[in-house]
Amino acid sequence: MKILLLGKNGQLGWELQRSLAPLGELIALDRRSEHFCGDLTNLSGLAETVQTLRPDIIVNAAAHTAVDKAESEPELTRLINATAPGVLAQEAAKLGAWLVHYSTDYVFDGSGERPWRETDTPAPLSVYGRAKLEGERLIQAACPRHLIFRTSWVYAARGGNFAKTMLRLAQERERLTVIDDQHGAPTGAELIADVTAHALRQVLQRPEDAGLYHLAASGHTTWHGYASHVISHAQSLQPALHIKAQEITPVATSAFPTPAKRPHNSRLDTARLQAAFGLTLPDWQQGVNRMLAEII
Ligand SMILES: NC(=O)c1ccc[n+]([C@@H]2O[C@H](COP(=O)([O-])OP(=O)(O)OC[C@H]3O[C@@H](n4cnc5c(N)ncnc54)[C@H](OP(=O)(O)O)[C@@H]3O)[C@@H](O)[C@H]2O)c1
Repeated sequence: MKILLLGKNGQLGWELQRSLAPLGELIALDRRSEHFCGDLTNLSGLAETVQTLRPDIIVNAAAHTAVDKAESEPELTRLINATAPGVLAQEAAKLGAWLVHYSTDYVFDGSGERPWRETDTPAPLSVYGRAKLEGERLIQAACPRHLIFRTSWVYAARGGNFAKTMLRLAQERERLTVIDDQHGAPTGAELIADVTAHALRQVLQRPEDAGLYHLAASGHTTWHGYASHVISHAQSLQPALHIKAQEITPVATSAFPTPAKRPHNSRLDTARLQAAFGLTLPDWQQGVNRMLAEII
């Protein structure tokens, strides 16, 4: 089994390097790779990489993920998040290979309070969300052997993340203000990578399980709830930690204007994934606590 992984050094790509390794020969690329092109802006290079390596599985963890910057770079965002995944899908289809791709809760407009199902109608609010949705559709049209996982609020121990920023600010400032009207589930790159490997093993035996799935940790919170949990759990793990912040004030999204509009309701209903693959997705706190234990 030959697996081609793109975006190997992102939060998710890094964890996929671990979780995919036992499935077969893993060739992991990033945009700077030398022998094969792993740059999603180079469409002919990407196609050539796929046809030269002839993988059984392509896993695309690369994306333009700077949501605010995307507003001023619509063409680049579309190239990386839509056109390139479409090319990967066409090249995978030529080989009869599987394509695994990741999408986002930002394909929805965030209305209501009910968790979004795969059958709900997307209506993205941002350049990033629109490009991710187009990427999904290009893959669905070109390559029947696909797994697309829509996920939310991804974090990893490696690199910068929201939890680390909150912990730093809590040690520097007496008061923090954090958004409390966006709802979602912080989801660890570890969990997404492990579910990917599990799902891949299953679809290789049961190709009829191909398709689009929502993949997020269970439960939900707000950015304010997330920050509060991070700070109190970090303090319990490390009593010597000097937390200066006496108050974490909840504020509306409108208090922090950003170029990209974000959905208020990012909750994802994961029933379809759990039923199809016999999985139980842990509560969001479990992965966050584990990440905190690693970084503190
Ligand atoms: N992060 C989230 O909160 C979130 C939420 C929902 C869905 N997702 C989706 O989950 C997937 C993984 O996201 P992540 O959190 O792991 O993102 P990430 O940490 O930002 O990683 C993205 C990777 O893509 C690479 N990349 C960017 N432009 C590229 C190009 N032109 N060619 C090749 N590689 C390129 C980046 O490389 P450089 O480091 O060199 O720029 C980076 O390694 C993405 O599909 C994303 O849309 C993420």
